[in-house]
Amino acid sequence: MSTPAKEAESLTAKKIPIFIMGKQYMVPETLTIMKAMEYAGYQYVRGAGCRGGICGACATVYRKPGDYRIHSGLACQTVVEPNMYLTQLPFYPANRQVYDYATIEATGEAIAQLYPELFRCVACNQCTKICPMDVEVMDYISAMKRGDLELAAKLSFDCIQCGLCASRCMGELPQYHIAQLVRRLVGGKIAPKTEHVDSMVSKIAADYYKDKIAELKKMPLDELKKIYSERVQEPHQGPEYWTPPSDVGL
Ligand code: SF4
Ligand code: SF4
Ligand code: FES
Repeated sequence: MSTPAKEAESLTAKKIPIFIMGKQYMVPETLTIMKAMEYAGYQYVRGAGCRGGICGACATVYRKPGDYRIHSGLACQTVVEPNMYLTQLPFYPANRQVYDYATIEATGEAIAQLYPELFRCVACNQCTKICPMDVEVMDYISAMKRGDLELAAKLSFDCIQCGLCASRCMGELPQYHIAQLVRRLVGGKIAPKTEHVDSMVSKIAADYYKDKIAELKKMPLDELKKIYSERVQEPHQGPEYWTPPSDVGL
């Protein structure tokens, strides 16, 4: 995140040359690609969202001098390097099938029917190599081919839908769309039901919180701040399955 200190630092930082779509610009060496492009005068209309490495909107590909490889990264997370030669890839066409979630079965066959190109994967591993989130893309595709949807959902969990894998795929697969469908099916139709979520949803539906919210809205700011800072919080180094001591705040 940009802070006044960081902005001041970028003003005094050494300038380095980078090439954006073939044109050279001198930019502070401390900037991310996203900030460097803005520094160079570009305005993001598309290709930027969260600016925090979460939304997957800012995929970028680049090369470096003396290096034959294509590099990739998220523009909001990757710091510029001297003479990098880059372009943004904010969108990469990839077919997404339409399905009826209510009737589709959570099986490998259903996935294969919607996305038969799954079997065009030649196991080249380019998708895994380019993924900025270090997702084992080829492995989740293999799991789908075997019908192991739970494993595919688990392996693809960190996918942020940037589309870079599809841009490199020898088999022309839309990996991340297939993975999204698989996670939806696993989450909604295979994973065990979570009783605490059901009970919370019923409480909300029954207006359990209505009066509490109205009460909070009337409180003076100082009192609100006090309640907020004194709330029960999960300890930073708590056990893996921490639960609040009671129904505090619920
Ligand atoms: S799996 Fe593909 S779409 Fe998802 S983050 Fe990795 S490269 Fe991007
Ligand atoms: S890039 Fe495409 S063909 Fe290569 S391993 Fe990944 S899914 Fe398979
Ligand atoms: S702007 Fe969201 S990941 Fe970069």
